[in-house]
Parts: sequence; C-alpha cells; structure tokens
Amino acid sequence: MAKACLMVCINRRENPLHPSCAMRGSLDLVSACLAEIERHHLPIELETFHCFGHCQYAPVMRCLTSGQFYHHVRLQDIPFILQQTQASIMQPAVTTPSTALLHVKS
Ligand code: FES
Repeated sequence: MAKACLMVCINRRENPLHPSCAMRGSLDLVSACLAEIERHHLPIELETFHCFGHCQYAPVMRCLTSGQFYHHVRLQDIPFILQQTQASIMQPAVTTPSTALLHVKS
C-alpha cells in the first residue's frame, strides 16, 4: 500500500528571541499525529526534521507527497492535515514544493 509522508520540524533553539518549532509545541504535534495515524490505521509515514527554514511560522509541518507546508500548526489542525496528507497519495502535486504554503492559523 502506498503511503504519504508527513514531516514535523522538531528543531529547538533555547534562545527565546529566535523562534523554533519544538519551543512552540511541535513535539506535542508529533505525539498527536502518531496517535491518530495508529488509531485510524492511516497510510502515512511520520518523520521528524530539523528546520525547514520557516522558523517564524513555527511550528511547521510539511507533506512531502504534495509539497504542502503547514504553518502555525495547532493540535486542532492535526485531523485536517492528516486528511490532506492522506489525500495527497491520490492527488499529484499541482505546485512546486517551494511554493506550496498554507497558513492554518489566521
Ligand atoms: S525551527 Fe522549525 S522550521 Fe526552523
């Protein structure tokens, strides 16, 4: 079975003047994603990563299958992101990875 790949930045900077995903809760996002993937047997591989270079939008996730970035991710965004990631298996990317951005928090 084909699987989609979802990445979560877990980079941590101890300096509070410089944002980083781990300092803004990305480890909780990893736990929530893993629990949902396991509970629903989703065809998604979750990987951790150290800095996409989008630090000002932390925490950041990216679906590698579609190239889609997700910025300012909150726990309540996880079901939507997992749904989009799962759908990406059947939908080829329509944008280049470097231009695929989505701010999930207004
Ligand atoms: S620290 Fe997460 S994108 Fe840079």
